[in-house]
Amino acid sequence: MQTATYGPAAEADYPALGRLIALAFASPLDGAVAWISNQGPAGLRVMRDAGGTPLACLRRIEMGQYFGGVSVPMTGIAGVAVAPEARGRGLALAMMRRCMQEAAEAGEALSCLYASTQTLYRQVGYEQAGHRWTIRIGMAHLDVRCRARSVTHLPPKDTAPVRDCYAAFARRFDGMLDRPPYIWDRIAAWRDKHYDGWALTDAGRITAYCFMRQVAKDTGRQTLELSDLAFDSHGSMLALLGFLADFASMADEITFHAGPIHPVLMAVSQQRYTVTLKEPWLLRILRPDIAIARRGYRPGLDTEFAIDLSDDTIPGNSGRYRVRIRDGRAEVGRGSSGSPGPSLRCGVRGLAALYSGYLAPEALALCGLIDGDAEALARAGAAFAAGSPPWMTDFF
Ligand SMILES: CC(C)(COP(=O)(O)OP(=O)(O)OC[C@H]1O[C@@H](n2cnc3c(N)ncnc32)[C@H](O)[C@@H]1OP(=O)(O)O)[C@@H](O)C(=O)NCCC(=O)NCCS
Repeated sequence: MQTATYGPAAEADYPALGRLIALAFASPLDGAVAWISNQGPAGLRVMRDAGGTPLACLRRIEMGQYFGGVSVPMTGIAGVAVAPEARGRGLALAMMRRCMQEAAEAGEALSCLYASTQTLYRQVGYEQAGHRWTIRIGMAHLDVRCRARSVTHLPPKDTAPVRDCYAAFARRFDGMLDRPPYIWDRIAAWRDKHYDGWALTDAGRITAYCFMRQVAKDTGRQTLELSDLAFDSHGSMLALLGFLADFASMADEITFHAGPIHPVLMAVSQQRYTVTLKEPWLLRILRPDIAIARRGYRPGLDTEFAIDLSDDTIPGNSGRYRVRIRDGRAEVGRGSSGSPGPSLRCGVRGLAALYSGYLAPEALALCGLIDGDAEALARAGAAFAAGSPPWMTDFF
C-alpha cells in the first residue's frame, strides 16, 4: 500500500472530495459537492497522500438502531470512495480499519452500512445482519374499507408528532433506524423525488402517516411509491390502508420498503403481493461490552452465558465476555471469573449476525461463524432472537 494518512476533513477539501464521490457513484459533480458540504466536515474522514491531497473518503453518520425495543447508538458509514487512480492498493481497507479503531476508542457501540462489495467490509469485521426489501401490493388487493376520521396533509419537514409515531412503530422491529436528521431529510425529498406527507390524527396526535409520491405511468395510471409509513395500532394501520385504497380509481399498486414480513401483509385478504430483496445491510459490533449492555431483551428472559470473541481489527475487543440477562437488560463482564458456564466462540462477524437475530447460533455454526456447546448456543439464541427477521426501511 502506498503511504497515506487517515484523518478528518476540512472545508478546503470539499472540491476534491466532491470529485471522489462523483467518480465513485457516477453522480453530477455539483450534487456530489453539495452532498459533501451540506452535512459539514465533522463526519468526514479521508486518506491523504504525502502532499495532503485526499485519495479516499467516507462519511460517518451518527444515529441509532433498535434492538430489543431499545435504540442502540450506531454509526452509519456512507460515501466510501477511492480515487480511480489510487484503487487496488489497500486504501479503502486501511481507511475502514482506522475508522473502526477510532470509533471503538470513542466508545461507539455499533456501525452499519450497505456494501457495494461485502468482501471489503467483512475484512474489518462487518457481517450481514439484516435486509431491506421492497413490497408491492396491487390496489385490487388492498381491500381494506376503513375510513379515517381526520386526515391531514403534512408539511414537507418532519415534525415531533411524526417522529413520535415513527418511533412507536420502529422500536417494535429489530434493525430499524432511530433516524437522525440526515435520514429524516430524505423521507420527504430524495434527489429529484418529492413525497407528500399524509397523517391520520386523533385528538391532535398522529396515529398513522405515510410519505407518498404518485408516479404517473405511460398508461396514465399511477404507482403510489411510499418513502415511509408508520402506525401505532392495528386500527390506525387499517385506517391508513383505507386512506390509500381511496386512490384506487387511478392507482394500480403501492410500493414501500420493509421486511419480508410486515403487518400490512397480514391485513390484506389475499397473498397476491410481491416481496423483493433490495439489499442486505451489514453490521459491525464496535464495542461488544457496550453493544450487548445497551440493547433490550425479552422481559421474561433469565439466562447467562459467555462469549469468547476474536477481533483482529480491534484487538482490545478480543477475549471473554460474561453475559447475564434478566429484567430485559444485560450485564456484561470481561475476563474469566467464577465457574466458566456455557460458552461459545466466535469472531466479531459472527457476533454481528448473532446480535441482530439474523441467524440462530445453530445456523451460524453451519456458516462457520460460531462454535460452542449446545447449551451456550441455545441460551445465546434465546437472548438475541429477533421477533421478525431484522430489517430497515431506510437506505443510506
Ligand atoms: C470499492 C472501493 C472503495 C475499493 O477501494 P480500494 O482502495 O481499491 O480497495 P482496497 O484496495 O482497499 O481493497 C480492499 C478489498 O475491497 C474489495 N474490493 C476492492 N475493489 C473491488 C472491486 N472492484 N470489486 C469487488 N471488491 C473489491 C476486495 O475484497 C479487496 O480485498 P482483496 O483484494 O484482499 O480481496 C473503490 O473501488 C471505489 O471507490 N469504488 C466505487 C465506489 C464504491 O463502490 N464504494 C463503496 C460503497 S459501499
